[in-house]
Amino acid sequence: MTERRLLKVPQHVAIIMDGNGRWARQQNLSRLEGHKRGSEVAREIVTAASRIGISYLTLYAFSSENWRRDPNEVSGLMGLLKLYLESETEELHKEGVRLKVIGERNQLPNTILSLVEHVEELTKTNKKITLQMAISYGSRAEIVHAVTEIAQKARDHRLDPEKITEQVLEQHLYTAGVPDPDLLIRTSGEKRISNYLLWQLAYTELIFVDKFWPDFTPEDFMETLLTFQNRERRFGTAA
Ligand code: IPE
Ligand code: IPE
Ligand code: MG
Repeated sequence: MTERRLLKVPQHVAIIMDGNGRWARQQNLSRLEGHKRGSEVAREIVTAASRIGISYLTLYAFSSENWRRDPNEVSGLMGLLKLYLESETEELHKEGVRLKVIGERNQLPNTILSLVEHVEELTKTNKKITLQMAISYGSRAEIVHAVTEIAQKARDHRLDPEKITEQVLEQHLYTAGVPDPDLLIRTSGEKRISNYLLWQLAYTELIFVDKFWPDFTPEDFMETLLTFQNRERRFGTAA
């Protein structure tokens, strides 16, 4: 990889890993085969991100809305997720990856939930990179969840409504304590956010890649980082 040309490494990269189904159709494979290849690519990108020195990587693996897909696809995806957690945990731990799941955990099957809890506990002091896996994640649900908690605290006089700031809201999101993404990458050519990190993406640079996720390589990843480093971020200030 052409890591030498990279002078400005984003601290936090978020990715919408899209296009597994279309890739599979193109190859005459089942959608599940597409997801399988997609999970291998995700694994490669975690290692690449860690080597490059990215501190936080957030991967959109399954949205709140994805529960509405064909039950066979949903159970296939859950099976893959279980397999991923079982087979990769040890290696991720060795690589210094801290794994965190963001999303509606209560909706996850018990087997997956206990695996997630085990991996989070095992890796909680790892420092090389934090991998946030967005599973059963929806940004609007996340915001509603945060607001509910804040309202309960206000009702119980544990929080003064006058003191509800942006920071307070942030502290109640699933991503509490994690800086906002500097860069969002979406593969597959679609140009939308699909209920991902709506609050957190306020000033994030967006890069849309025309390849399907299973075709995305560490070299493509490096290309997006090179594009990012040439972007001028203003955060509302004058040019
Ligand atoms: C992304 O690929 C993976 C998930 C949403 C789980 P898709 O399954 O959305 O693939 P396309 O967009 O239909 O090609
Ligand atoms: C977003 O992709 C969710 C994930 C990549 C996990 P979708 O394929 O579900 O989004 P839409 O339906 O194209 O907006
Ligand atoms: Mg899709």
